[in-house]
Amino acid sequence: MCGITGYIGYDEAAPLLIRALKKLEYRGYDSAGVAIIDNGKIFVRKKKGQIKLLDESLSASTLSGNTGIGHTRWATHGEPSDINSHPHIDAEGRIAIVHNGIIENYVKLKQWLQSRGIVFRSDTDTEVIVHIINYFYRTSQGALLDAVMETLKLLTGSYALAIVSADYPDRIIAARKNCPLITGLGKTGAFIASDVPALLEHTRDLVFLNDGEIAVLYRDHIELRSSEGEVLKRETTHIDWDVESAEKGGYPHFMLKEIFEQSKAMSDALSPRLKMGGPEAAGANKVIDFDEVKLDERWIMARRIVITACGTAYHAGIIGKYAFEHLARIPVEVDIASEYRYRSPIFDKKDIVIVISQSGETADTIAAMRLAKQNGACVFAITNAPGSTLSREADIVMYTYAGPEIAVASTKAFTTQVMCIYLLAIELGRLRKHISGDAYRRYIAALSEIPKQARQILDKKESIQRFAARQFNKTKMFFMGRQFDYPVSMESALKLKEISYTHSEAFAAGELKHGPIALVDSSTLVVTFATQNALFEKIASNIREVTSRGAASLVITWEDVDSFDTVSEAIFTLPKTEDCLSPLLAVIPAQLFAYYCAIQRGNDPDKPRNLAKSVTVE
Ligand code: M6R
Repeated sequence: MCGITGYIGYDEAAPLLIRALKKLEYRGYDSAGVAIIDNGKIFVRKKKGQIKLLDESLSASTLSGNTGIGHTRWATHGEPSDINSHPHIDAEGRIAIVHNGIIENYVKLKQWLQSRGIVFRSDTDTEVIVHIINYFYRTSQGALLDAVMETLKLLTGSYALAIVSADYPDRIIAARKNCPLITGLGKTGAFIASDVPALLEHTRDLVFLNDGEIAVLYRDHIELRSSEGEVLKRETTHIDWDVESAEKGGYPHFMLKEIFEQSKAMSDALSPRLKMGGPEAAGANKVIDFDEVKLDERWIMARRIVITACGTAYHAGIIGKYAFEHLARIPVEVDIASEYRYRSPIFDKKDIVIVISQSGETADTIAAMRLAKQNGACVFAITNAPGSTLSREADIVMYTYAGPEIAVASTKAFTTQVMCIYLLAIELGRLRKHISGDAYRRYIAALSEIPKQARQILDKKESIQRFAARQFNKTKMFFMGRQFDYPVSMESALKLKEISYTHSEAFAAGELKHGPIALVDSSTLVVTFATQNALFEKIASNIREVTSRGAASLVITWEDVDSFDTVSEAIFTLPKTEDCLSPLLAVIPAQLFAYYCAIQRGNDPDKPRNLAKSVTVE
């Protein structure tokens, strides 16, 4: 999705804006631009393609000035081009804006503006905003903030906006509705951006705008206002992430770095929630003890858990279904957030609704959460992003502590989400008396081993790299598994398609004969997850069914299992844990496989085509 930034202060704006835009690159973009105010005039530079082209253009002939806004565009309305890139300016060249989001009623607004003689330069929905601001600015005797507030009333859809005016070089106005926007005061001035990494080198104390709020940035202070213009007070949120954790740290790509960070990330998600002592059932051993969550009567008596999320977070939710049902014997319904929000779901006061989102800013997940809240549900959020919309609006929040995840393809966010789910499911299982004291201790001991076991898997990365070098050009790659291995298959197929652009699908292995097997031939690779001991024989026959039709095969199973030695030409083994905890480990070789296939195919895994990190529009 688009990224926006702005700076007003004592330093030159252009290099700061470029640095911030580079930190927003991961969101996905196809063009970039800046507008700088200098000597009472606005100067705009924008380029289709990578930020480095914009940077080179600015190095060749710089724009000077201490106030500016910047943008990375992810095209929705109008092709990627210099003209359609942001910033957009009004007809008189006195106002410039950058925008993330979609203006749903732009056609009507455009017709109205055209009927007043406005000539549009771009095909974007955004351009209407700047012309309307100009219209109100002219009719409100030059009160820029009033003009912006009047304009916002006319817009439907979503926006994060930053606006500068040549008549007001001492301020930047920013506003949000359904798109993230964060502001902070650094040593040399005030900053605004779509996401935290762009601000971290200047300050870690940030103000997260709520929907409908407006921020007016001056070089030495920031004013927060309501949509009606009243001045608001808001505490800053301190962000612990350090600057380095949002950098590549010697890895060729963020994705590989984040795959390797999983051992630590899972330990960070787990350790603060495992404490000594506690309930009788666990004796004097470590027990699960959440600071942020009280699994009270409501959880114990819940009739059902409803989980909703998108993409990878949805796959974590499906693992949640298997985990809560297996460990706590509570029925779980999982739904894709974009379906849930429109299918008029049935609410029950005795439900717990869990929303999962790395960014906490996914438009469909936020809408699903709001729908559940409006219907009286208690919403529990699992997210990685303090200060995000989800974290502020949910009733209870559990942080994944994965640290910043920059690569578009989610890895450590997934495994930490799954870790949080297991903690909840095991504790709920104990409280609902479905897990004995012995089993509880066994699961906790197993979870404690997971970070070390993840490292052991990562140490074997070369074997996956070699396998990818042999198989990367297969035209179809399928993933299959049963029980806990099925959602891992789904996540693996998503990872592979996102960055290698290979046609990949996931099947519940039992479904193979019901259709998918028709696709299997010698151009196919089938990766099978086989971690559910009780189903080894069944999955072995599924593997035989695909290899006998010419498919290449890789089986991902436990060490010391020989059930697949004669059925698959390639086997990758995982250190043994409880079968029901296998997703935490089994997904790692699949992430590595996707990464190395992308590299073999010459793709940049950090910037997959057509994808954005945070999907803040529908
Ligand atoms: O920020 P969220 O977890 O809400 O994002 C949800 C999906 O957009 C995200 O998981 C997406 O599927 C990733 N690109 C997967 O790698």
